[in-house]
Amino acid sequence: MNFFKGCPALAATAAIFIVFILPVRAADPSPRERLLLDFGWRFHLGDDWGLSERLDKGGGNPGPAGRTFSDANWRVLNLPHDWLPELPFDSHANPDHGFKPFGPGYRSNSVAWYRRTFPLPDEDRTRRLMLEFDGVYRDCNVFFNGYFLGHHASGYSGFRYDITDLANCGGENTLAVRVDASQFEGWFYEGAGIYRHVWLSKTSALHIAPDGTFVHSEFAGNVPEGSATIHVQTLLQNEENSPVPATITCEIFDPKGRSAAHFQQSITMEGWTNKEVSQQAAVSEPALWSPETPNLYKLVTTIQAQGKAADQTETEFGIRTIAFDANKGFLLNGKFCEIKGTCNHQDHAGVGSALPDRLQYFRVSRLKDMGDNAIRTSHNPPTPELLEGCDLLGMLVMDENRLLGSDAQNLVDLAGLVRRDRNHPSVVIWSLFNEEDQQTTPTARRIAATMQRVVHELDPTRLCTAAGNVGNEFQGVNSVLDVRGWNYHQDDVDAYHQEHPAQPEIGTEQASTVGTRGIYANDKERGYVSAYDTNAPPWATTAETWWKIFAARPWLSGGFVWTGFDYRGEPTPYSWPCVNSHFGIMDTCGFAKDNFYYYQSWWSDRVVLHLLPHWNWPGKEGQEIDVRCFSNCKEVELFLNGQSLGRKAMPANSHLQWMVPYAPGVLLAKGYKDGQAIAEEKIETTGAAANVKLTPDRASIEANGEDLSIVTVSLTDAAGRIVPVASNHIEFELSGPGRIIGVGNGDPSCHEPDQYVATQPSHETALKNWRIKRGAKYPRPEESSEKFDDSGWDAVDVGRQEGPLKPGESAVFRTEFEATPAMISAYAVNLNFGMIDDDGWVYVNGHKVGESHDWSAEPSFKVGQYVHEGVNTIAVSVQNREGSGGVNKGVSLVTLEKPVTPAWQRSAFNGLAQVIVQADKQPGTLTLTARSAGLEPGTVNITSGAAAPRPAVP
Ligand code: GAL
Repeated sequence: MNFFKGCPALAATAAIFIVFILPVRAADPSPRERLLLDFGWRFHLGDDWGLSERLDKGGGNPGPAGRTFSDANWRVLNLPHDWLPELPFDSHANPDHGFKPFGPGYRSNSVAWYRRTFPLPDEDRTRRLMLEFDGVYRDCNVFFNGYFLGHHASGYSGFRYDITDLANCGGENTLAVRVDASQFEGWFYEGAGIYRHVWLSKTSALHIAPDGTFVHSEFAGNVPEGSATIHVQTLLQNEENSPVPATITCEIFDPKGRSAAHFQQSITMEGWTNKEVSQQAAVSEPALWSPETPNLYKLVTTIQAQGKAADQTETEFGIRTIAFDANKGFLLNGKFCEIKGTCNHQDHAGVGSALPDRLQYFRVSRLKDMGDNAIRTSHNPPTPELLEGCDLLGMLVMDENRLLGSDAQNLVDLAGLVRRDRNHPSVVIWSLFNEEDQQTTPTARRIAATMQRVVHELDPTRLCTAAGNVGNEFQGVNSVLDVRGWNYHQDDVDAYHQEHPAQPEIGTEQASTVGTRGIYANDKERGYVSAYDTNAPPWATTAETWWKIFAARPWLSGGFVWTGFDYRGEPTPYSWPCVNSHFGIMDTCGFAKDNFYYYQSWWSDRVVLHLLPHWNWPGKEGQEIDVRCFSNCKEVELFLNGQSLGRKAMPANSHLQWMVPYAPGVLLAKGYKDGQAIAEEKIETTGAAANVKLTPDRASIEANGEDLSIVTVSLTDAAGRIVPVASNHIEFELSGPGRIIGVGNGDPSCHEPDQYVATQPSHETALKNWRIKRGAKYPRPEESSEKFDDSGWDAVDVGRQEGPLKPGESAVFRTEFEATPAMISAYAVNLNFGMIDDDGWVYVNGHKVGESHDWSAEPSFKVGQYVHEGVNTIAVSVQNREGSGGVNKGVSLVTLEKPVTPAWQRSAFNGLAQVIVQADKQPGTLTLTARSAGLEPGTVNITSGAAAPRPAVP
């Protein structure tokens, strides 16, 4: 099977290219719009309506899938959203997924609906409209204006639906998404919900296809000198009947915004065709992309037709060379570049897997601080914004596919990943899968070969590997992979290399050292592991063990540590009460564990000198404490309270150790190079916590509805020193135009909430004792008045699944209820119907409160203003069109109290906690205050400055 030959007409067009170098000029305006569809969704957790699919007719999907369903009682929220942080922990739930009560056995917490209603302007009638989902966990059904759009199973791949035919331009439109997270894909925390962005794209009929631009650079002989040839492939689509003559113009801008190349080509697009156009140009002496110099070029592609711009896109890319050499390892821009990488899952403290873009950038920056130059997106395609952050900040990426498989769906997902991500200079290698059980079999070999071929056809510039947890084993996938990947099994690397000297290799996953921030003894009961670099599960090693092996073997290309950050789930080596992993070099908040400084010593260029443990050991006076030092100084001398404990030479890629009899005071290290003191580090015995201190990562953010400040909360003693054992409980209050979106503290056994969601207490009363009068005319307001005497009417049960009316019949249904004092003083009173089948006019005390014209809509009416003390009357005038009809499936009154948002709070863990603050779209000052009993409160102002929000769906 040739998968790509199946794609619509990828007929490459040979052509003569004219390359101009032109000054910058204003680009033609593009008729393309890409609008963020993140704000103002309605959300309901629960499997209350099943699949809501109607299979007999199109466009009439019932319940929340339908157009007229009332979601007025659903919660309003913004994307990205992961509903798991809102659930409590449950010791019976799955440990690998973080003990959250969802998935198998927890049906009611595993299915949720999202709805969003939005207008489309009349002028969109002439445009092509496309919905784009970057990632939904998982198994979702998507409906638009009552029509089924599609089903998408993967929780990690992006997907799109063309809604041009279904759009109501000049009116309201309803998008509904049913998400079913009741089955897991991985063995780690994965989140649940629409946890990545959603977009609405609008284009003209002639346009560049989604992910239709591929731009890459090439140097003669792969030597990055002189001119680079820039190859541009553009997939055009003409989605109308008539042929269109068009011109495709490309302009490349260098990192300083100067035009570096300009070239164009003419083409005729037949009606309803796709065509790929290949162009190329030279850019001389380009500024190369690397982690140290993340230079980005921009390609602006403009499609002109009939004298005007039909489409325009911008694509960022980098110019660089890469190679994996069996003897020299990984080469970037012609030089050996050791991969000093980390594997990472995608969740963060506070927010689960729903990370606003700024948090992606924060995490990339934290890893860079450590000297990390590469991320493996284990074990799934990342969100696009992670790659944008890596391009911009300078971070190499191993971009990983979820699953071994050459079935149609897996190949669609794989091809989608490559087409989406192949312009990113940060991506230097593809990983086809992680630790597949079948990896040594002939079947897996054939599947991997097919997958690799698919990748190479779409991207001839990068090689493939896979994360293999086998030793000296060539059978199966290793015999076909471009680059052999090593998960653990360091003892076998030399033998394998000797036997397969022509195959490049890479450390796809190493270490898996376990440790808890600020903890220096294993404690199974509390779920903590010592942070000395001494603990690793049987298949794994300490940081120092694996890195010494890899640092001595450049042909291994370096490798990726499991993991940069702790993540929810996989609480190895323990289980409950532990809910997080311990593998991170940082905790879930991004606070450094001690190993951070081991890696920083040997991976970064900065001078590092770090001592562990802390120096608060009351009761251990005179007992020996294991003091260690991570440093890249040549020698280190240690002093306790001014007295030298000796000066030692630092072995490469290692650490120093002193056994020090404990005495409170100051432990001081001095680092030397060439005999000169170049660094000093001290740790002191602190007093008890006295203050709460707040330190934002950025004190000035943008009022665009998305930007964040990530605030570190530290507990300090009277002298301002962080108390490394403090765990005081802290309450947070935010004023100004913004909100707190999550809190965390990095404690792997903490069961406090990450999020506090407003609740609205409610009370439901079923309305009984209905009477009916059948008749031919509708609506019948006279029989709906408050005082109308219905005592002679027949009794009717409105709680049945089908109504009592025959096709074409109409009737009035009436009942009474006594308003309780709670109802009169309630925040809101809603009248909820299970079903009004087919057309209904609803009255309370003779006041019309609304109409319903969709039997599947479950209508809800706000009636508080019409309810009075004593006896009240409800009347519903119904016309049934076909089948049986009437009022059925129950009617109830729901009284709602004022929504209450509990105070945000969190305990510190070993002196630290984190609060994530998000800006609204209004500028102003956000003031965060943190209070803890008996401590001086902390406060910080964050300026949220006027900024243009991204174009968004209204
Ligand atoms: C690996 C696996 C990872 C994680 C890790 C823990 O074998 O690829 O997903 O489970 O072990 O050490």
